[in-house]
Amino acid sequence: MTQAGPAPDPRWWRDAVIYQVYPRSFADGDGDGTGDIAGMRSRLAYLAELGVDAIWVTPWYASPLADGGYDVADYRAIDPAFGTLAEAEALIAEARALGIRTIVDVVPNHVSDAHAWFRAALAAGPGSTERARFWFHPGKGPDGSQIPTHWRSDFAGTTWTRTTNPDGTPGEWYLHLFTPQQPDLNWNHPDVVAEHLDILRFWFDRGAAGIRIDSAALLVKDADLPEVPDQPGPGEHPHVDRDELHDIYRAWRSVADSYPDSRVLVGEVWLGDRDRFARYLRPDEMHTAFNFDFMSRPWQAAALRASIDSTLEAHLPSGAPPTWVLSNHDVTRPVTRYGRDDSSFAFAAKRFGVPTDLAVGRRRARAAALLVAALPGCWYVYQGEELGLPEVEDLPLDVLEDPMHFRSGGLDPGRDGCRVPLPWSGSEPPFGFSPPNATHDPWLPQPKDWQSLTVEAQEDDPASMLALYRAVVRVRRTEASLGDGPMTWLDLGPQVLAFVRGDVTCVVNFGADPIDLPAHTDVLLLSSPLDAGRLPRDCAGWLRTTP
Ligand code: NOJ
Repeated sequence: MTQAGPAPDPRWWRDAVIYQVYPRSFADGDGDGTGDIAGMRSRLAYLAELGVDAIWVTPWYASPLADGGYDVADYRAIDPAFGTLAEAEALIAEARALGIRTIVDVVPNHVSDAHAWFRAALAAGPGSTERARFWFHPGKGPDGSQIPTHWRSDFAGTTWTRTTNPDGTPGEWYLHLFTPQQPDLNWNHPDVVAEHLDILRFWFDRGAAGIRIDSAALLVKDADLPEVPDQPGPGEHPHVDRDELHDIYRAWRSVADSYPDSRVLVGEVWLGDRDRFARYLRPDEMHTAFNFDFMSRPWQAAALRASIDSTLEAHLPSGAPPTWVLSNHDVTRPVTRYGRDDSSFAFAAKRFGVPTDLAVGRRRARAAALLVAALPGCWYVYQGEELGLPEVEDLPLDVLEDPMHFRSGGLDPGRDGCRVPLPWSGSEPPFGFSPPNATHDPWLPQPKDWQSLTVEAQEDDPASMLALYRAVVRVRRTEASLGDGPMTWLDLGPQVLAFVRGDVTCVVNFGADPIDLPAHTDVLLLSSPLDAGRLPRDCAGWLRTTP
Protein backbone atom coordinates (compact mmCIF):
# COMPACT_ATOMS: atom_id res chain seq x y z
CA MET A 1 0.00 0.00 0.00
CA THR A 2 1.44 3.38 -0.94
CA GLN A 3 1.03 5.87 1.83
CA ALA A 4 1.11 9.62 2.01
CA GLY A 5 2.96 11.12 4.94
CA PRO A 6 6.53 11.63 6.05
CA ALA A 7 9.45 9.67 4.66
CA PRO A 8 10.01 6.19 6.12
CA ASP A 9 11.95 6.26 9.37
CA PRO A 10 13.14 2.83 10.42
CA ARG A 11 13.77 4.01 13.98
CA TRP A 12 10.50 5.85 14.59
CA TRP A 13 9.47 3.45 17.34
CA ARG A 14 12.55 4.09 19.48
CA ASP A 15 11.39 7.43 20.81
CA ALA A 16 7.80 7.84 19.67
CA VAL A 17 5.08 9.61 21.61
CA ILE A 18 2.16 7.21 21.28
CA TYR A 19 -1.39 8.26 22.10
CA GLN A 20 -3.76 5.54 23.24
CA VAL A 21 -7.24 5.83 21.79
CA TYR A 22 -10.03 3.97 23.54
CA PRO A 23 -12.50 4.24 20.64
CA ARG A 24 -15.69 3.85 22.69
CA SER A 25 -14.85 6.96 24.68
CA PHE A 26 -12.83 9.15 22.30
CA ALA A 27 -15.39 10.83 20.02
CA ASP A 28 -18.85 9.84 18.87
CA GLY A 29 -19.44 10.62 15.20
CA ASP A 30 -22.96 9.29 14.73
CA GLY A 31 -24.62 10.39 17.96
CA ASP A 32 -25.40 7.00 19.45
CA GLY A 33 -23.43 7.76 22.62
CA THR A 34 -20.58 5.41 21.70
CA GLY A 35 -17.31 6.66 20.27
CA ASP A 36 -16.50 5.43 16.79
CA ILE A 37 -14.13 5.65 13.86
CA ALA A 38 -16.04 8.56 12.35
CA GLY A 39 -15.39 10.43 15.60
CA MET A 40 -11.71 9.48 15.54
CA ARG A 41 -11.34 10.71 11.97
CA SER A 42 -12.98 14.00 12.87
CA ARG A 43 -10.46 14.53 15.67
CA LEU A 44 -7.24 13.63 13.86
CA ALA A 45 -6.34 17.31 13.58
CA TYR A 46 -6.40 17.48 17.39
CA LEU A 47 -3.90 14.63 17.60
CA ALA A 48 -1.70 16.23 14.96
CA GLU A 49 -1.76 19.46 16.95
CA LEU A 50 -0.81 17.55 20.09
CA GLY A 51 2.13 16.34 18.05
CA VAL A 52 1.97 12.59 18.66
CA ASP A 53 3.88 10.19 16.42
CA ALA A 54 1.43 7.32 16.60
CA ILE A 55 -1.89 6.19 17.97
CA TRP A 56 -2.58 2.85 19.59
CA VAL A 57 -6.20 1.92 19.09
CA THR A 58 -7.63 -0.53 21.63
CA PRO A 59 -9.78 -3.27 20.07
CA TRP A 60 -12.32 -2.05 17.55
CA TYR A 61 -13.18 -5.46 16.18
CA ALA A 62 -16.54 -7.22 16.16
CA SER A 63 -17.19 -8.03 19.80
CA PRO A 64 -20.02 -8.52 22.29
CA LEU A 65 -18.03 -6.14 24.56
CA ALA A 66 -18.02 -8.48 27.54
CA ASP A 67 -14.60 -6.99 28.35
CA GLY A 68 -14.65 -3.67 26.53
CA GLY A 69 -13.69 -5.30 23.20
CA TYR A 70 -10.94 -7.56 24.58
CA ASP A 71 -13.32 -10.34 23.68
CA VAL A 72 -12.89 -10.44 19.92
CA ALA A 73 -15.42 -12.27 17.75
CA ASP A 74 -13.78 -11.45 14.42
CA TYR A 75 -10.40 -9.78 13.87
CA ARG A 76 -11.14 -8.98 10.26
CA ALA A 77 -14.32 -7.04 10.96
CA ILE A 78 -14.88 -3.75 12.75
CA ASP A 79 -17.72 -3.79 15.24
CA PRO A 80 -20.72 -2.00 13.67
CA ALA A 81 -20.86 0.23 16.75
CA PHE A 82 -17.46 1.61 15.70
CA GLY A 83 -17.86 1.61 11.92
CA THR A 84 -16.62 -0.44 9.01
CA LEU A 85 -13.36 -1.91 7.78
CA ALA A 86 -13.31 0.69 5.01
CA GLU A 87 -13.50 3.42 7.66
CA ALA A 88 -10.67 1.82 9.62
CA GLU A 89 -8.54 1.77 6.47
CA ALA A 90 -9.42 5.40 5.79
CA LEU A 91 -8.47 6.35 9.36
CA ILE A 92 -5.09 4.63 9.09
CA ALA A 93 -4.38 6.39 5.78
CA GLU A 94 -5.59 9.81 6.95
CA ALA A 95 -3.61 9.59 10.16
CA ARG A 96 -0.53 8.57 8.19
CA ALA A 97 -0.98 11.56 5.90
CA LEU A 98 -0.75 13.72 9.04
CA GLY A 99 2.42 11.90 10.10
CA ILE A 100 0.64 9.71 12.66
CA ARG A 101 1.17 5.95 12.56
CA THR A 102 -1.45 3.50 13.80
CA ILE A 103 -0.86 0.59 16.15
CA VAL A 104 -3.70 -1.93 16.42
CA ASP A 105 -4.42 -4.23 19.33
CA VAL A 106 -4.26 -8.01 18.99
CA VAL A 107 -5.55 -10.24 21.78
CA PRO A 108 -3.93 -13.63 21.22
CA ASN A 109 -4.56 -15.25 24.59
CA HIS A 110 -8.30 -15.59 24.12
CA VAL A 111 -11.22 -14.90 21.82
CA SER A 112 -14.86 -14.10 22.47
CA ASP A 113 -17.24 -16.94 23.15
CA ALA A 114 -19.07 -15.51 20.11
CA HIS A 115 -16.04 -16.27 17.88
CA ALA A 116 -16.81 -18.80 15.13
CA TRP A 117 -14.12 -21.16 16.45
CA PHE A 118 -15.59 -21.31 19.93
CA ARG A 119 -19.12 -21.78 18.69
CA ALA A 120 -17.91 -24.60 16.47
CA ALA A 121 -16.06 -26.11 19.42
CA LEU A 122 -19.14 -26.11 21.61
CA ALA A 123 -21.22 -27.64 18.82
CA ALA A 124 -18.64 -30.28 17.89
CA GLY A 125 -18.37 -31.82 21.33
CA PRO A 126 -15.63 -33.58 23.34
CA GLY A 127 -12.62 -34.97 21.53
CA SER A 128 -13.27 -32.91 18.37
CA THR A 129 -10.59 -31.08 16.43
CA GLU A 130 -12.65 -27.90 16.95
CA ARG A 131 -12.27 -28.23 20.72
CA ALA A 132 -8.53 -28.83 20.38
CA ARG A 133 -8.04 -25.14 19.56
CA PHE A 134 -9.11 -24.31 23.13
CA TRP A 135 -8.56 -25.86 26.56
CA PHE A 136 -11.54 -28.13 27.01
CA HIS A 137 -11.04 -30.64 29.77
CA PRO A 138 -13.11 -33.13 31.75
CA GLY A 139 -13.69 -32.15 35.35
CA LYS A 140 -12.18 -34.06 38.24
CA GLY A 141 -14.10 -36.40 40.51
CA PRO A 142 -16.39 -39.31 39.63
CA ASP A 143 -18.98 -37.08 37.95
CA GLY A 144 -16.50 -34.55 36.57
CA SER A 145 -18.00 -31.82 38.71
CA GLN A 146 -14.71 -30.53 40.13
CA ILE A 147 -12.68 -27.92 38.28
CA PRO A 148 -9.59 -29.23 36.45
CA THR A 149 -7.23 -26.79 38.26
CA HIS A 150 -7.50 -24.11 40.92
CA TRP A 151 -5.84 -21.44 38.81
CA ARG A 152 -7.06 -17.96 39.77
CA SER A 153 -8.38 -15.55 37.18
CA ASP A 154 -6.79 -12.10 36.77
CA PHE A 155 -10.38 -10.96 37.13
CA ALA A 156 -10.89 -12.84 40.42
CA GLY A 157 -12.55 -16.21 40.74
CA THR A 158 -12.09 -19.45 38.90
CA THR A 159 -10.65 -19.90 35.41
CA TRP A 160 -12.92 -22.76 34.34
CA THR A 161 -16.53 -22.87 33.20
CA ARG A 162 -18.47 -26.05 32.65
CA THR A 163 -20.28 -26.63 29.36
CA THR A 164 -23.65 -28.24 28.91
CA ASN A 165 -24.05 -31.16 26.52
CA PRO A 166 -26.73 -31.06 23.81
CA ASP A 167 -28.87 -33.41 25.95
CA GLY A 168 -28.72 -30.98 28.85
CA THR A 169 -26.25 -32.96 30.99
CA PRO A 170 -23.14 -31.21 32.34
CA GLY A 171 -20.18 -31.52 29.99
CA GLU A 172 -16.51 -30.62 29.80
CA TRP A 173 -14.96 -27.53 31.30
CA TYR A 174 -13.09 -24.84 29.35
CA LEU A 175 -10.31 -22.54 30.48
CA HIS A 176 -10.56 -18.75 30.60
CA LEU A 177 -7.92 -16.73 32.41
CA PHE A 178 -10.30 -13.76 32.23
CA THR A 179 -14.12 -13.94 31.97
CA PRO A 180 -16.08 -17.01 30.82
CA GLN A 181 -16.84 -14.98 27.68
CA GLN A 182 -13.10 -15.04 26.85
CA PRO A 183 -12.09 -18.68 26.30
CA ASP A 184 -8.31 -19.19 26.15
CA LEU A 185 -6.80 -20.43 22.91
CA ASN A 186 -4.51 -23.45 22.84
CA TRP A 187 -1.23 -22.17 21.43
CA ASN A 188 0.03 -25.73 20.89
CA HIS A 189 -2.47 -25.99 18.06
CA PRO A 190 -1.11 -25.13 14.58
CA ASP A 191 -4.36 -23.39 13.55
CA VAL A 192 -3.96 -20.91 16.39
CA VAL A 193 -0.39 -20.14 15.37
CA ALA A 194 -1.22 -19.77 11.67
CA GLU A 195 -4.35 -17.72 12.28
CA HIS A 196 -2.46 -15.09 14.23
CA LEU A 197 0.30 -14.77 11.65
CA ASP A 198 -2.47 -14.13 9.17
CA ILE A 199 -4.15 -11.55 11.44
CA LEU A 200 -0.85 -9.67 11.66
CA ARG A 201 -0.54 -9.66 7.88
CA PHE A 202 -4.16 -8.57 7.53
CA TRP A 203 -3.51 -5.40 9.55
CA PHE A 204 -0.01 -4.73 8.27
CA ASP A 205 -1.43 -4.98 4.73
CA ARG A 206 -3.89 -2.26 5.72
CA GLY A 207 -1.12 0.05 6.81
CA ALA A 208 -0.90 -0.67 10.54
CA ALA A 209 2.52 0.39 11.79
CA GLY A 210 2.46 -1.88 14.78
CA ILE A 211 0.70 -4.41 16.92
CA ARG A 212 0.05 -4.03 20.64
CA ILE A 213 0.03 -7.56 22.06
CA ASP A 214 -2.55 -8.08 24.79
CA SER A 215 -1.66 -10.23 27.81
CA ALA A 216 1.50 -11.17 25.98
CA ALA A 217 3.01 -13.36 28.70
CA LEU A 218 -0.03 -15.57 29.19
CA LEU A 219 -0.60 -17.40 25.89
CA VAL A 220 1.21 -20.66 26.56
CA LYS A 221 -0.01 -23.13 29.18
CA ASP A 222 1.57 -26.23 30.65
CA ALA A 223 -0.48 -28.91 28.89
CA ASP A 224 -0.33 -31.15 31.97
CA LEU A 225 -2.41 -28.50 33.78
CA PRO A 226 -0.59 -28.67 37.12
CA GLU A 227 -1.58 -26.44 40.02
CA VAL A 228 0.41 -23.22 40.45
CA PRO A 229 3.38 -23.97 42.76
CA ASP A 230 3.71 -21.83 45.90
CA GLN A 231 6.76 -20.08 44.58
CA PRO A 232 7.26 -20.88 40.91
CA GLY A 233 10.81 -20.36 39.67
CA PRO A 234 11.49 -18.66 36.33
CA GLY A 235 9.47 -20.39 33.60
CA GLU A 236 7.80 -22.73 36.09
CA HIS A 237 4.40 -21.08 36.30
CA PRO A 238 1.83 -23.18 34.41
CA HIS A 239 0.28 -20.20 32.62
CA VAL A 240 2.55 -17.17 32.96
CA ASP A 241 5.79 -16.39 31.14
CA ARG A 242 6.47 -19.85 29.77
CA ASP A 243 9.62 -20.30 27.74
CA GLU A 244 7.72 -21.47 24.67
CA LEU A 245 6.25 -17.98 24.23
CA HIS A 246 9.44 -16.69 22.71
CA ASP A 247 9.14 -18.85 19.61
CA ILE A 248 5.71 -17.31 19.01
CA TYR A 249 7.10 -13.79 19.09
CA ARG A 250 10.07 -14.72 16.93
CA ALA A 251 7.61 -15.84 14.26
CA TRP A 252 5.63 -12.63 14.70
CA ARG A 253 8.81 -10.58 14.39
CA SER A 254 9.61 -12.28 11.09
CA VAL A 255 6.23 -11.19 9.76
CA ALA A 256 6.73 -7.63 11.01
CA ASP A 257 10.21 -7.49 9.51
CA SER A 258 8.92 -8.62 6.13
CA TYR A 259 7.15 -5.23 5.76
CA PRO A 260 8.78 -1.90 4.91
CA ASP A 261 8.99 1.07 7.32
CA SER A 262 9.47 -0.77 10.63
CA ARG A 263 6.25 -2.43 11.71
CA VAL A 264 6.60 -2.96 15.42
CA LEU A 265 5.49 -5.31 18.18
CA VAL A 266 4.63 -3.76 21.55
CA GLY A 267 4.02 -6.24 24.33
CA GLU A 268 1.73 -5.93 27.29
CA VAL A 269 4.06 -7.80 29.60
CA TRP A 270 3.16 -7.57 33.30
CA LEU A 271 6.12 -9.32 34.93
CA GLY A 272 7.84 -8.44 38.18
CA ASP A 273 11.02 -10.30 37.23
CA ARG A 274 13.03 -7.78 35.18
CA ASP A 275 15.30 -10.39 33.63
CA ARG A 276 12.37 -12.43 32.44
CA PHE A 277 10.72 -9.22 31.14
CA ALA A 278 13.86 -8.36 29.20
CA ARG A 279 13.82 -11.69 27.36
CA TYR A 280 10.79 -10.51 25.35
CA LEU A 281 12.89 -7.66 23.99
CA ARG A 282 15.64 -9.72 22.41
CA PRO A 283 16.41 -8.40 18.92
CA ASP A 284 14.38 -11.09 17.17
CA GLU A 285 11.31 -10.71 19.42
CA MET A 286 9.30 -7.62 20.40
CA HIS A 287 10.51 -4.11 19.68
CA THR A 288 9.25 -2.70 22.98
CA ALA A 289 7.09 -3.67 25.95
CA PHE A 290 5.07 -1.60 28.38
CA ASN A 291 6.93 -0.69 31.52
CA PHE A 292 4.26 -0.94 34.20
CA ASP A 293 6.71 -0.88 37.07
CA PHE A 294 7.12 2.88 36.97
CA MET A 295 3.36 3.43 36.83
CA SER A 296 2.82 1.21 39.84
CA ARG A 297 5.23 3.12 42.07
CA PRO A 298 4.26 5.82 44.57
CA TRP A 299 5.16 9.47 44.00
CA GLN A 300 8.46 9.28 45.89
CA ALA A 301 11.89 10.13 44.61
CA ALA A 302 13.65 6.97 45.78
CA ALA A 303 10.93 4.62 44.55
CA LEU A 304 10.78 6.22 41.13
CA ARG A 305 14.54 6.40 40.80
CA ALA A 306 14.79 2.71 41.64
CA SER A 307 12.23 1.98 38.95
CA ILE A 308 14.01 4.09 36.36
CA ASP A 309 17.34 2.44 37.16
CA SER A 310 15.98 -1.08 37.01
CA THR A 311 14.13 -0.26 33.79
CA LEU A 312 17.22 1.09 32.09
CA GLU A 313 19.27 -1.84 33.31
CA ALA A 314 16.73 -4.36 32.05
CA HIS A 315 16.82 -2.81 28.59
CA LEU A 316 20.60 -2.68 28.33
CA PRO A 317 21.24 -6.21 27.05
CA SER A 318 18.77 -5.96 24.17
CA GLY A 319 19.28 -2.30 23.38
CA ALA A 320 15.49 -1.98 23.12
CA PRO A 321 14.13 1.42 24.16
CA PRO A 322 12.21 1.58 27.44
CA THR A 323 8.62 2.79 27.48
CA TRP A 324 7.07 5.14 30.02
CA VAL A 325 3.42 4.91 30.89
CA LEU A 326 1.51 6.99 33.43
CA SER A 327 -1.91 5.61 32.59
CA ASN A 328 -4.01 3.43 30.33
CA HIS A 329 -7.57 2.14 30.13
CA ASP A 330 -6.98 -0.31 32.99
CA VAL A 331 -5.55 1.83 35.77
CA THR A 332 -6.60 4.72 38.02
CA ARG A 333 -5.99 8.05 36.34
CA PRO A 334 -2.78 9.78 37.57
CA VAL A 335 -4.46 12.98 38.79
CA THR A 336 -6.49 10.86 41.21
CA ARG A 337 -3.77 8.34 42.03
CA TYR A 338 -1.08 10.88 42.81
CA GLY A 339 -3.41 12.79 45.14
CA ARG A 340 -3.75 9.85 47.52
CA ASP A 341 -1.78 9.10 50.66
CA ASP A 342 -0.76 5.84 49.01
CA SER A 343 -0.05 6.93 45.46
CA SER A 344 1.14 3.53 44.22
CA PHE A 345 -1.04 1.45 41.93
CA ALA A 346 -2.12 -2.17 42.31
CA PHE A 347 -5.24 -3.78 40.89
CA ALA A 348 -5.77 -5.77 44.07
CA ALA A 349 -5.81 -2.62 46.19
CA LYS A 350 -8.51 -0.73 44.27
CA ARG A 351 -11.47 0.12 46.51
CA PHE A 352 -14.36 2.57 46.56
CA GLY A 353 -14.07 5.67 48.72
CA VAL A 354 -10.29 6.13 48.98
CA PRO A 355 -9.79 9.88 49.57
CA THR A 356 -7.71 11.94 47.17
CA ASP A 357 -6.59 15.54 46.95
CA LEU A 358 -7.04 16.39 43.28
CA ALA A 359 -5.08 19.64 43.50
CA VAL A 360 -2.05 17.73 44.78
CA GLY A 361 -2.66 14.97 42.27
CA ARG A 362 -2.85 17.40 39.37
CA ARG A 363 0.35 19.15 40.39
CA ARG A 364 2.18 15.83 40.63
CA ALA A 365 0.69 14.53 37.40
CA ARG A 366 2.04 17.62 35.63
CA ALA A 367 5.48 17.03 37.12
CA ALA A 368 5.25 13.33 36.25
CA ALA A 369 4.62 14.19 32.60
CA LEU A 370 7.82 16.24 32.44
CA LEU A 371 9.70 13.47 34.21
CA VAL A 372 8.67 10.60 31.94
CA ALA A 373 8.81 12.65 28.74
CA ALA A 374 12.46 13.43 29.48
CA LEU A 375 13.47 9.81 30.03
CA PRO A 376 15.05 7.74 27.23
CA GLY A 377 12.62 5.82 25.05
CA CYS A 378 8.93 5.96 24.12
CA TRP A 379 6.16 7.76 25.92
CA TYR A 380 2.57 6.48 25.99
CA VAL A 381 -0.22 8.96 26.68
CA TYR A 382 -3.70 7.62 27.38
CA GLN A 383 -6.56 9.73 26.04
CA GLY A 384 -7.70 12.28 28.59
CA GLU A 385 -4.36 12.22 30.42
CA GLU A 386 -3.43 15.33 28.43
CA LEU A 387 -6.60 16.97 29.79
CA GLY A 388 -5.81 15.99 33.37
CA LEU A 389 -9.06 14.08 33.70
CA PRO A 390 -9.54 12.55 37.12
CA GLU A 391 -10.81 9.03 37.66
CA VAL A 392 -14.61 9.22 37.83
CA GLU A 393 -15.19 7.51 41.16
CA ASP A 394 -18.87 8.19 41.66
CA LEU A 395 -20.37 6.52 38.62
CA PRO A 396 -23.80 5.14 39.49
CA LEU A 397 -23.45 1.42 40.16
CA ASP A 398 -26.05 0.59 37.53
CA VAL A 399 -23.92 2.00 34.70
CA LEU A 400 -20.79 0.03 35.53
CA GLU A 401 -19.79 -2.50 32.89
CA ASP A 402 -16.36 -3.73 33.84
CA PRO A 403 -16.17 -7.46 34.62
CA MET A 404 -13.38 -6.73 37.12
CA HIS A 405 -15.99 -5.00 39.26
CA PHE A 406 -18.59 -7.73 38.98
CA ARG A 407 -16.24 -10.67 39.40
CA SER A 408 -14.84 -9.13 42.58
CA GLY A 409 -18.32 -9.26 44.06
CA GLY A 410 -18.50 -5.48 43.84
CA LEU A 411 -15.41 -4.89 45.99
CA ASP A 412 -13.23 -3.59 43.16
CA PRO A 413 -14.65 -0.40 41.60
CA GLY A 414 -13.47 -1.66 38.23
CA ARG A 415 -12.01 0.28 35.33
CA ASP A 416 -15.01 2.24 34.07
CA GLY A 417 -13.87 5.34 35.95
CA CYS A 418 -10.93 5.86 33.60
CA ARG A 419 -13.02 5.14 30.51
CA VAL A 420 -15.54 7.96 30.72
CA PRO A 421 -16.06 9.70 27.34
CA LEU A 422 -13.80 12.68 26.67
CA PRO A 423 -15.05 16.24 27.13
CA TRP A 424 -14.33 18.24 23.98
CA SER A 425 -16.33 21.46 24.28
CA GLY A 426 -19.31 23.23 25.74
CA SER A 427 -20.64 23.61 29.24
CA GLU A 428 -22.67 20.46 29.83
CA PRO A 429 -22.64 16.76 28.96
CA PRO A 430 -21.98 15.38 26.40
CA PHE A 431 -19.36 18.16 26.18
CA GLY A 432 -19.00 17.78 22.43
CA PHE A 433 -18.29 14.04 22.72
CA SER A 434 -21.43 13.42 20.66
CA PRO A 435 -22.78 15.68 17.90
CA PRO A 436 -25.59 18.14 18.70
CA ASN A 437 -28.26 15.89 17.18
CA ALA A 438 -27.24 12.87 19.29
CA THR A 439 -29.92 10.28 19.94
CA HIS A 440 -28.25 8.81 23.04
CA ASP A 441 -26.34 9.99 26.08
CA PRO A 442 -22.68 8.97 26.32
CA TRP A 443 -22.37 5.28 27.21
CA LEU A 444 -20.92 6.29 30.59
CA PRO A 445 -22.13 9.56 32.14
CA GLN A 446 -19.62 12.40 32.29
CA PRO A 447 -19.40 14.46 35.49
CA LYS A 448 -21.46 17.61 35.12
CA ASP A 449 -18.57 19.78 36.27
CA TRP A 450 -16.15 18.89 33.47
CA GLN A 451 -16.68 22.23 31.74
CA SER A 452 -13.21 23.49 32.69
CA LEU A 453 -11.61 20.24 31.52
CA THR A 454 -12.83 20.33 27.91
CA VAL A 455 -10.34 20.66 25.08
CA GLU A 456 -12.04 23.93 24.16
CA ALA A 457 -11.61 25.37 27.65
CA GLN A 458 -7.99 24.26 27.93
CA GLU A 459 -6.86 25.23 24.46
CA ASP A 460 -6.67 28.93 25.23
CA ASP A 461 -5.37 28.57 28.76
CA PRO A 462 -1.56 28.58 28.90
CA ALA A 463 -1.70 27.11 32.42
CA SER A 464 -3.83 24.12 31.40
CA MET A 465 -2.76 20.49 31.36
CA LEU A 466 -3.39 20.42 27.61
CA ALA A 467 -1.11 23.41 27.05
CA LEU A 468 1.56 21.66 29.13
CA TYR A 469 1.28 18.39 27.19
CA ARG A 470 1.43 20.22 23.87
CA ALA A 471 4.52 22.07 24.99
CA VAL A 472 6.18 18.93 26.34
CA VAL A 473 5.62 17.03 23.10
CA ARG A 474 6.84 19.99 21.05
CA VAL A 475 10.02 20.57 23.04
CA ARG A 476 10.70 16.84 23.24
CA ARG A 477 10.54 16.69 19.47
CA THR A 478 12.83 19.67 18.87
CA GLU A 479 15.48 18.74 21.43
CA ALA A 480 17.70 16.19 19.76
CA SER A 481 19.04 14.79 23.04
CA LEU A 482 15.58 13.81 24.31
CA GLY A 483 13.84 10.61 23.25
CA ASP A 484 16.24 7.78 22.45
CA GLY A 485 19.74 7.93 23.90
CA PRO A 486 21.72 8.03 27.15
CA MET A 487 21.03 9.85 30.41
CA THR A 488 23.16 10.69 33.42
CA TRP A 489 21.92 11.23 36.97
CA LEU A 490 22.78 14.38 38.87
CA ASP A 491 22.89 14.11 42.64
CA LEU A 492 20.81 16.91 44.15
CA GLY A 493 19.80 15.13 47.33
CA PRO A 494 17.36 12.40 48.31
CA GLN A 495 14.20 14.41 47.59
CA VAL A 496 15.18 15.39 44.06
CA LEU A 497 15.40 13.48 40.80
CA ALA A 498 17.65 15.21 38.29
CA PHE A 499 19.26 13.91 35.14
CA VAL A 500 21.07 15.22 32.14
CA ARG A 501 20.34 14.46 28.53
CA GLY A 502 22.84 16.30 26.33
CA ASP A 503 22.20 19.98 26.90
CA VAL A 504 18.87 19.45 28.63
CA THR A 505 18.52 18.76 32.35
CA CYS A 506 15.31 17.54 33.95
CA VAL A 507 14.80 18.29 37.65
CA VAL A 508 11.90 17.16 39.83
CA ASN A 509 11.48 18.25 43.43
CA PHE A 510 9.64 15.76 45.66
CA GLY A 511 10.62 17.44 48.93
CA ALA A 512 8.61 19.87 51.05
CA ASP A 513 11.00 22.81 50.52
CA PRO A 514 11.75 24.68 47.32
CA ILE A 515 15.21 24.01 45.85
CA ASP A 516 17.65 26.05 43.81
CA LEU A 517 17.78 25.13 40.16
CA PRO A 518 21.11 23.74 38.98
CA ALA A 519 23.18 26.08 36.80
CA HIS A 520 21.40 26.70 33.50
CA THR A 521 21.18 29.18 30.68
CA ASP A 522 17.46 28.89 30.04
CA VAL A 523 14.31 27.39 31.47
CA LEU A 524 12.63 25.36 28.70
CA LEU A 525 9.57 24.16 30.60
CA LEU A 526 8.10 24.11 34.08
CA SER A 527 5.22 22.00 35.36
CA SER A 528 4.23 24.77 37.82
CA PRO A 529 5.55 28.30 38.40
CA LEU A 530 8.77 28.87 40.33
CA ASP A 531 8.57 30.13 43.88
CA ALA A 532 10.86 33.15 44.23
CA GLY A 533 13.11 31.65 41.55
CA ARG A 534 13.24 28.24 43.24
CA LEU A 535 11.66 24.93 42.21
CA PRO A 536 8.79 24.22 44.60
CA ARG A 537 7.45 20.89 45.86
CA ASP A 538 6.02 18.48 43.28
CA CYS A 539 7.31 20.58 40.44
CA ALA A 540 9.49 19.59 37.48
CA GLY A 541 11.55 21.68 35.10
CA TRP A 542 13.48 21.20 31.89
CA LEU A 543 16.54 23.40 31.79
CA ARG A 544 19.04 24.28 29.10
CA THR A 545 22.40 23.35 30.54
CA THR A 546 25.94 23.00 29.33
CA PRO A 547 26.51 19.42 28.23
C1 NOJ B 1 -5.29 -6.38 29.16
C2 NOJ B 1 -6.16 -5.29 28.66
O1 NOJ B 1 -5.49 -4.06 28.72
C3 NOJ B 1 -7.40 -5.32 29.51
O2 NOJ B 1 -8.23 -4.21 29.28
C4 NOJ B 1 -8.12 -6.61 29.27
O3 NOJ B 1 -9.23 -6.69 30.14
C5 NOJ B 1 -7.21 -7.82 29.52
N1 NOJ B 1 -5.90 -7.65 28.95
C6 NOJ B 1 -7.82 -9.09 28.94
O4 NOJ B 1 -7.80 -9.04 27.55
